[in-house]
Amino acid sequence: MMRIFATTTILALIMMVAVAASAGENQLAIEGFGKARSISASALLARNDLATIEISNDPAYMRTMTYAAVPFLALLPDTDLAAFDTLEIRATDGFVSQLPTTLFESARSGGATPWLAIEMPNSPWPKLPGKNISAGPFFLVWQHPARSRIGPEQWPYAIASIEAVASPIKRWPNMSVADDVPENAPERHGLVSFIKNCLACHKIDGAGKADVGPDLARPVAPTEYMTRKGLKQLIRDPASVRTWPDQKMQGFPADILPDDELDDLIAYISHIARRREMREVAHTISDKEIVVVRPTSAQSSKQRLRVFEGISGKTAGAEGISMIRVVIPPGGQAEAHYHKGYETAIYVLQGRVETRYGQQLKKSVVNEAGDFIFIPPDVPHQPRNLSSTEPAIAIVTRTDPNEQESVVTYQPK
Ligand code: HEC
Repeated sequence: MMRIFATTTILALIMMVAVAASAGENQLAIEGFGKARSISASALLARNDLATIEISNDPAYMRTMTYAAVPFLALLPDTDLAAFDTLEIRATDGFVSQLPTTLFESARSGGATPWLAIEMPNSPWPKLPGKNISAGPFFLVWQHPARSRIGPEQWPYAIASIEAVASPIKRWPNMSVADDVPENAPERHGLVSFIKNCLACHKIDGAGKADVGPDLARPVAPTEYMTRKGLKQLIRDPASVRTWPDQKMQGFPADILPDDELDDLIAYISHIARRREMREVAHTISDKEIVVVRPTSAQSSKQRLRVFEGISGKTAGAEGISMIRVVIPPGGQAEAHYHKGYETAIYVLQGRVETRYGQQLKKSVVNEAGDFIFIPPDVPHQPRNLSSTEPAIAIVTRTDPNEQESVVTYQPK
C-alpha cells in the first residue's frame, strides 16, 4: 500500500514538472482578430507547413541565416486582413512595431514574403551582435524584402505578441499631420517614414507604445535643440555625434533612408513640435473679460496735474501697466518728480511741452503733438506747457498698475 502510494506521488510530481515545463515554454500571443489565442513554440515547430528558409543579409544578424519558419500569413486567423490597418508586433525588449497590413497582403501579389522564424530549444540561435539576447523565440523575417521596400526596423525579433489594431494615427491623433497640410507635402511623407523607421523605439508627442528611446517631441523636440545638420548626422550615424558604451540606436544610412526621405522626416518632427507648441499656447489662452474704462471726471495727482485715470489696478484689475490722460493747463507745469523703479511711455496728443529732467533738472527736451516720449525709471522730470492759452494733453502709460504709488516728488537743490 505504502509503495503504491509513493509511486503515484512520484508520478504526480513528474506530471506536475512536465506541465510546469510546457507552461514555461515560449508562447506567441495572437490578438485583435476576435478571439485571442496563444501558440507555443513546440506547436509551431510541429506544424506541417514548417520550412527551412535562408535569409541573406539578415539585418539583425548582419549575415546570411537559416531558420525554421512558418509562413506568417498562415498563422493569422482566416479573415480579411484588409479589415485591419496595422499589425502591432510587441517584442520582449520594449520594441513595438506598427506594420501596415498592406505589407503582408502584398505578399499574395508578388511582394516581399513574411515568415515567422522559430528558435528551436535544442539548437538556439546565436546572440545578436553587440547584444545579450538572440532574436528568439520568434522573429519576423522577410524573403525578397526589397520588393516591398521593407526597412530593417520592420524585422521585429524577440516577439511576444502580434495584434491586429487600428493605424497609429487613428489611435494617437497627436502624431498626425494637420489637416491643412497639402497632400504631397514633406510632412506627410515624413509621417510615413517615421512610422516605418522610428515609431518602434520612439514615441512622438506621447504617441506610440515604445519606450526604447526618448519621445521625439516631448518635452522638447530635437529639431529645437539640435542644428539641422547635427540632427541629420545623428540619424545617419549616432556614434559620429556622441558615443558611449550603452548606446543603442543604429544609424540609418542613405540606402535605407535616402536624403530626401531624411529631409521629410525632419520636416515631420518639426511639424509635430510646432503642433505641440500651438496646443500648449491654446491651453494657456484666457477667457477673461475685456475691461472698458471711460473716465468722466479728472482727479488731481501728486504731480499737481489733472489726471483722467484710465487703466490701473484699481479701475481695470491691471497687474503690470497703467494708462492715464494728463492735462497740463495753459501756462501750467507739474511738480518735479520721478517714478521709483518704473518705466514711462508718453504720447503727446495736443500742445507743446518742455520737459526739464535729470539731476538738478539741468537737461531739457521740447515735445509737441505726435511725439512719443520714453522716460527711464528714476529719472526726475518736470513737464511745462509752453502755451499760455491752450491746455497740453498727453497719454501716459507706466509699468506700474498703481501709477500714483511710485510717484516721488523731487526738489532740485
Ligand atoms: C531600435 C530602436 C531605435 C530606432 C528604430 C530609432 N531610434 Fe532613435 N534612439 C534610440 C535610443 C535607444 C536612443 C537614446 C540614445 C541611444 O541609446 O542610442 C535614441 C536617440 C535618438 C535621438 C537623440 C535624442 C537625444 O536628444 O538624445 C534622436 C534625434 C533619434 N533617436 C531619432 C531617431 C529617428 C528620427 C529615428 C527614425 C529614423 C530613430 N531615432 C529610430 C532608439 C532608436
